[in-house]
Amino acid sequence: MPAIPLRDKWAVTLSFQRSADRIRQASQFLAGGVSSNFRLGISPTPLVFDHADGPFLFDIDGNRLIDYYLGMGPMILGHRPEAVAEAVCRQIERGILFGGQSEVEFEAAELVCGLLPSAERVRFSSSGTEAVQAALRLARAVTGRGTILKFEGHYHGWLDNVLWSVAPPPDRMGAEKAPVPQPGTAGQDEKAGERIEVLSWNRLDVIEERVGRGDVAAVIMEPAMCNTGAIFPAPGYLEGVREVCRRTDTVLIFDEVITGFRVGPGGAQKRLGVTPDLTIFGKAVANGFPVAGLAGTAALMDEFATGRKVMHGGTYNSQSIAMAATVATLKTLKTPGTYQTLERQGKRLMDGIAAALRSAEVRATVTGFPEIFHVGFGLERPPRNYRDIIASDRAGYIRLTTALLQRGVRILERGAWFVSTTHNDDVIDETLDGLRGTLASL
Ligand SMILES: Cc1ncc(COP(=O)(O)O)c(C=O)c1O
Repeated sequence: MPAIPLRDKWAVTLSFQRSADRIRQASQFLAGGVSSNFRLGISPTPLVFDHADGPFLFDIDGNRLIDYYLGMGPMILGHRPEAVAEAVCRQIERGILFGGQSEVEFEAAELVCGLLPSAERVRFSSSGTEAVQAALRLARAVTGRGTILKFEGHYHGWLDNVLWSVAPPPDRMGAEKAPVPQPGTAGQDEKAGERIEVLSWNRLDVIEERVGRGDVAAVIMEPAMCNTGAIFPAPGYLEGVREVCRRTDTVLIFDEVITGFRVGPGGAQKRLGVTPDLTIFGKAVANGFPVAGLAGTAALMDEFATGRKVMHGGTYNSQSIAMAATVATLKTLKTPGTYQTLERQGKRLMDGIAAALRSAEVRATVTGFPEIFHVGFGLERPPRNYRDIIASDRAGYIRLTTALLQRGVRILERGAWFVSTTHNDDVIDETLDGLRGTLASL
């Protein structure tokens, strides 16, 4: 692959007119011109892409954009990594979907179990949303209890029984000690939320009291909250949750769809030193291929196969191309030095952003892991949970994302930045130049 020249003219204001036109035209056939509501309402327009390579996206207006969306997180090795592309091409020659097992699937399972501390067994799915459902069903089956606890600001997929209080309106969310669960969409089955209770995250007193009653099937959480901010658990919080769950035979589920294989080979659980009973992973595990999964103790996971024979299915589960991508991604991630590179580059970017904001006298926090971090405009101190994040200046941040896009850097409007192994010094310097120029122009 020839080296791609880096842009040097930061005054350029890119146009996205063709994207805007094509979205409008395509809306006659594709609802809203998109296939996920998370791609709607982006300023100045949802984009239409032609191709991607390394840290760059190329859109149909002919713009080259430095990409910090990374497909909403999966592209940890950047776009089109050779090892993954080759493995996928080789697998296509051997067949796509067998309706049965394959060696490449077994290899992927063994790799996952070798990396994630909580994984003695694994089952693959095609999306995080589905793997969450398998986890909740399994927890209810083994405990014989119905109630699931989730937390404000945590996202576990788009289905009716978990889409509660992901972004609750501040005037309706109730008191911090007793949040009022808020549905996430029109058409949501309210009955599906009857056995979900919502708590404020990062408050050990609250969860100890609730789980201590002994009637909860499972606690599900992002061990570090990355759908709203990128927030570490308070010291002792995860350990405390682990303890009360163990004491009451409550299943502890970590949803590591974002953090799994991204913040380290063993995910957030390894990095933070607390092992759940079940783990949901996805995104970075297959660098863009639709793979997710549920992993956990043998005692729990074998309930899918023996004992209660808890139902889990899916035509496309462990589809062989996706499994080949999983094996190639995990093997590449296991290569010595990979996470050190990610850490170093991500830290460089975080520090550079914090410095640029300071010198532009913009009040903001830059928090999280080097591989996935969050910029919170208007915040005085690192946020602790959803209620702190909503004080951030979202409109101001969207002005930044829009202006930065016009200088060729694409970042998520919710404040998250994802970093890949291909974001090298030159790309990061170019990003920081763009950021400084954008802050000056704003
Ligand atoms: C923590 C978490 N859980 C679950 C999901 C749902 O995964 P998917 O979009 O693959 O269904 C997501 C998606 O962003 C997520 O971030």
